[in-house]
Amino acid sequence: MQRLIIEGGKRLSGEIELQGCKNSALPIMAAALLCRGRCVLRHCPEITDIYSASRILNCLGAECSFSDGTAAADTAAADGTEIPDALMREMRSSIVFMGAILGRCGECRVSIPGGCELGARPIDMHLSALRRMGTIINEDGGSIYCRIPSGRARGARLTLPFPSVGATENIILCAVCAEGTTIINNAAREPEICDLCGFLRSCGAEISGDGCGRITVEGVPPEKLHGCTYTIMPDRIAGATYLCMVAAAGGEMILKNACTAEMEPFLSVLEQTGCSMCCTGETVYLRSGARLRAVQDRIRTMPHPGFPTDAQAVLMAALTTAEGTSVFEETIFDCRYRHTEALRKMGAEIDIVGRAAVVRGVGRLHGAEVSATDLRGGAAMVIAGLSAEGTTIITDISHIDRGYEKIEEAAARLGGRVRRE
Ligand code: EPU
Repeated sequence: MQRLIIEGGKRLSGEIELQGCKNSALPIMAAALLCRGRCVLRHCPEITDIYSASRILNCLGAECSFSDGTAAADTAAADGTEIPDALMREMRSSIVFMGAILGRCGECRVSIPGGCELGARPIDMHLSALRRMGTIINEDGGSIYCRIPSGRARGARLTLPFPSVGATENIILCAVCAEGTTIINNAAREPEICDLCGFLRSCGAEISGDGCGRITVEGVPPEKLHGCTYTIMPDRIAGATYLCMVAAAGGEMILKNACTAEMEPFLSVLEQTGCSMCCTGETVYLRSGARLRAVQDRIRTMPHPGFPTDAQAVLMAALTTAEGTSVFEETIFDCRYRHTEALRKMGAEIDIVGRAAVVRGVGRLHGAEVSATDLRGGAAMVIAGLSAEGTTIITDISHIDRGYEKIEEAAARLGGRVRRE
């Protein structure tokens, strides 16, 4: 089992070019199934979740390869309809293959997906929408068998009870080649949804309204979708993570290839900590001098364009040593504070009160041996370790590798002393 060893307490300085976005690359790889041709995905992050997605594609009969940040998927022969349990359990995003396989083959057999443990993560909205689109679904224990009797889904007018990212993606994937028009009211507005729709439009799909909460998908005949070459958007959460490294440890950095507009809900909160920041085009400059200030307003995680739940843990790590008390309120997931125990072990003062986490800034953290609990929680531990006095050892780092391209090399580009053993 690999681990990260961090010698903390050093000011950071350097430049990072942002990796491609995990949460759009994954549904885009599923979407490649709908395009009977070769899809070339540039700037695809080299992370273990992407390798899991290519294993799923290969298992369905596609030919998927990866080199130098480019994934290529030829789905001409991908007529498989079943994803084995073991592959489903590797990550949460395996569930978006359901809409894509249904859209292509009219039936699929999957099971309850794995992924980070952030509390209950039901898929009721996915299933109810697919039913409304003409799918018959039988659930037996953990396995889910879906079949569209006519072979082709039908468009529907849908209103989601909550703007779920995964449900919005599954509906779009099933609707692209459906008969008729699908309207998704209260659709997720996350930038990754727009990236998925951008990819599908490049392949010939007819989708509008993404990013505005009401998405319209005009179903097209399946043979109309073709392959394409597409560049995945930058990863706004990886960007937030690297900025928090420098905000917490002190120093300065240049973040290149950043999606600054999409990062705005995070940047506007980070700015309140007293860091000086400047965004020009696709670059963020950040300088963190004296001790950070606590954030005065409650940091409430919300669907986009609210403060992203995926940036909650990494910002919390930076605020553990800020002057004053910051309060987080996690509204998206019911168990997304598992990292706080490790932060406390490193000297942080954090109390959990219902959905809120009250973070009283302490002068300094100290190194400790901690275990990554989930992807973003693990990244928060790296941030804490870089700012702490002494040595931090992080185990269970496979969680971190699911979403960050060699996080130790990124930290090293900033002058951080992190090694993998
Ligand atoms: N929900 C339901 N029923 C459903 C679907 C969702 O109750 O049918 C609930 C969930 O339990 C959760 C909330 O709705 O409480 C939000 O879930 P959503 O479906 O929006 O999230 P997701 O699709 O499972 C994606 C990202 C997460 C990110 C969330 C919210 C991917 C692969 N995952 O998850 O990313 O936190 O949206 O923005 O895109 C991460 O990258 O670390 C990560 C966890």
